[in-house]
This record gives sequence, structure tokens and C-alpha cells, in this order.
Amino acid sequence: MKDIHLSTESYKGVRDFLPKDMAIQRYIFDTWSKTAETFGYVRYEASILEPSELYKSKGATNEEIVNEQTYTFTDRGEREVTLRPEMTPTVARMIAGLRRELSFPVRWYSIPNLFRYERPQRGRLREHWQLNCDLFGTDDYTADVEVIALAYQLLIDFGATPEMFEIRINDREVMRVFYASLGITDTEIITAITRLNDRKRKLTPEEYHTGLMEITQDIQITEEIITRIENTTHDTTVMSGLNALGITNIVFDPALARGFDYYTGTIFEVFDISGVNNRSLIGGGRYDNLTSMFSDEPISGIGFGMGDVTMRDFLTTHGLLEGKVPVCAATLTIIPAETEQNLEAQKIALLFRNRDVKTAVDMSTKKLGKKIADAAKQQVNYILVVGSDEIASSTFTLKNLTLESSETGSIDELLASLIAHL
Ligand code: HAM
Repeated sequence: MKDIHLSTESYKGVRDFLPKDMAIQRYIFDTWSKTAETFGYVRYEASILEPSELYKSKGATNEEIVNEQTYTFTDRGEREVTLRPEMTPTVARMIAGLRRELSFPVRWYSIPNLFRYERPQRGRLREHWQLNCDLFGTDDYTADVEVIALAYQLLIDFGATPEMFEIRINDREVMRVFYASLGITDTEIITAITRLNDRKRKLTPEEYHTGLMEITQDIQITEEIITRIENTTHDTTVMSGLNALGITNIVFDPALARGFDYYTGTIFEVFDISGVNNRSLIGGGRYDNLTSMFSDEPISGIGFGMGDVTMRDFLTTHGLLEGKVPVCAATLTIIPAETEQNLEAQKIALLFRNRDVKTAVDMSTKKLGKKIADAAKQQVNYILVVGSDEIASSTFTLKNLTLESSETGSIDELLASLIAHL
């Protein structure tokens, strides 16, 4: 009977990263880090595992994520553990724990991988990486301005132009005052309306109307909310602040809800406007109470998450990856003419590696011509053949495959010449 083999596919909704994908991923992460650090943000990390209670406390996160999207299991000590679906509760936990030692304002960033049991689709997977930038310990509106300016700069630094994307802004406090003007002050009702608004784009106008009627039980209030949601002329202080920094691709969007219950003020999302990618590139907002889960002294925070999946789609759609991603190959391949020279080739390789030249050795049993062709196919810049004649004469030839030139000399000479050209 034939053996039944395991599938070579990855788990549903997660990705394997081939070296060419990893090169893009690294380019994205490096650009993220550089921009975040330009704004004075410093990097932190935490474990993927968190006690499940972190996401269950009231107002801590998003009901849909907790009830339907977490990967939760019981460990061998009967503790309920969750693979983090987002970083905000984790960073709030860390900041709350360090509140006496830190001098605020604190600017932190991280690039965690997050897990959500979603239906995999364009822009949405079960594991993604997310740049998180958060600013703690200040309520000043210019903190909101700074954080959104950082989100803007992150796209600009990939070569995007402001015409390629749009920043949508809303304010939970402005909405709260509006609901109060209609006599709605019950936070549960406001949360229910906010959650409905969060799904508005997926609903027909009739479904949205019915949903609002179910929550408010009042036709007049329902209609006033709909009118308000469609009126997009409001301008916030944060928006004026952004304009003062030269950022104008912003719209006020009263339908913008953000799924998380913890936001208390400014909320925002960034969208690609090419029409090809309809998932948000960035989502964030101000949360002034999240650390109160851990202590009676709340520390205000504002920040955002920016995902790698939507980022890569955006860069591909706008042709912004071309010429930016380094080739993932060694600089030099040393090619032993026969397998007898394999070890000598390793010795020579060490001399190059010690001088930081990325050096591989082809110790396969292929013919010399095939090895040279393969090195070229892998986009290696240089090759150096090690045969018995070369070893006997201590004279080698370094070939530059890009320029189709070559140079002959001792290993020391060739090494010096190669380094001079890098
Ligand atoms: P979020 O809106 O859930 O916010 O995610 C932020 C960004 O992460 C999204 O705009 C998208 O780029 C990406 N993203 C989210 N879920 C997925 C997924 N399943 N697959 C691929 N990409 C995804 C938060 O997570 C907040 N905790 C962000 C935050 C930080 N708020 C304040 N500080």
C-alpha cells in the first residue's frame, strides 16, 4: 500500500514566506522601523501568548474578535491562553505595569504577528504582522496630530503620494455629544450604534435603517442619525492641525466606527483609493481608559496598527516595490570544479565571509557549466572557480556576472578588489 503523505500546503489563512517574499517583508519592516524611529518611537516586543482574560474584560477589545476570532486553548496547567489577536491590550498591560518608572510622553512601536480566525480573503488572513505605534501619557490634541502624521509619513516613505490614499477621521467624543443631543446617553446603546456603523459598508441602506430602528426604537432618531452620518462637513481640531503640517488628504467620516470598544476620542483609518484594495491599510485611535484594567490611574494612549498584508497589496498595486527590494542571493558563489575541491572551496569562502561578503559554495555534483549557469540564474554577482590548477598556482579568476568582466590574481588580491567594488 502507498504511504499517505501530508499536504505541503501551509495551514489555512497563514503564509509561508519564500526568500523572495521574505525580502519584501524585510523591506516593509525596515521601512516601518526607520520611519517610526524618525518620530522618536522606540521598539518593544512581547510574547504571542497572553492569558485569555486580557481580552475578556469589559471595554477591553472587540466583541467579534473575542467571541469569534481568537485562537484560545487551555494549557497543561489548566490556564486559558490566547494567541494575541491585536497588540493594544498587551502594550496597555506593559505600560500600566511600568507607569511609575516611565517618563511620559512615551512613544513605543512594535511589529508583532497577530492571529485572528477570519475567513481568509484579499487583505484579511489568519496571521498577519502589524506595525503598532502608540503614544502614551498625553491628552493634547497635537498627540493625535503627531500619530496621524506618522501614519501618513509611513506611506510617503514607501514612495506613495497623497493622491494614492485617504485618511478618514471621526471622533467618538463628537459622536457621543451628537447622540446626547438626541437624548441617547446609555453607553450600551451608543456601543450598539457604533458597532452597526462599523458594519455599515457591508449593509444595504434598508438593513442599516432596520438595524438602527432595532437599537433606537424610534423613527425620528433613526432618521436624524442617518442624516448626520451622511453629512460629512465637520472639521475637527485634529484635522486643522494636520492641515497645518501640510497633510490634506483627510476626510471627516461620521460613519467611521472602528470595531474596538476602547476608543474614546479621535478614531481614524487609512484607505487605498485605487479601488483595488478595499480593506483599511491603517486603523487606530485614542483610548483613554485602557490601562484602567490594571490600575486606578488611567494613562491615555493614542496609536494605530498597520498591517503587512494590505501594505504589500498597496505597494504592488501602485508599483512601489519595483527596484526597492534587494535581490535575495549571495554576492559570491565559489564553485569547486570537482567535488575533490569542495573543502578547499569552503576554506576560501571563509576568507570572504570574514570580510562580510555573502558567500555560498556550490558543492553539488553538477557539471561545472551547469553550476555557473545556476549561479547566474540565482542572480549571484560574482563567481570564483576552484579547480586543481587554480589551487596549484594559487591564482584564481573572479568573474563579475553582472558586468561580464573578470579578474585574475591571488585570493587576497581578488578579495581586496571585490570589497572595493561593493
Ligand atoms: P485593526 O483595525 O483591527 O486595529 O487593525 C489595524 C490594521 O491591521 C488594519 O488596518 C489592517 O491593515 C491590519 N489587519 C487587521 N486584521 C487583519 C487581518 N486579519 N489580516 C491582515 N491584516 C489585518 C487594531 O488591531 C488596533 N489594535 C490598532 C491600534 C493600535 N489602535 C491603537 N493602537
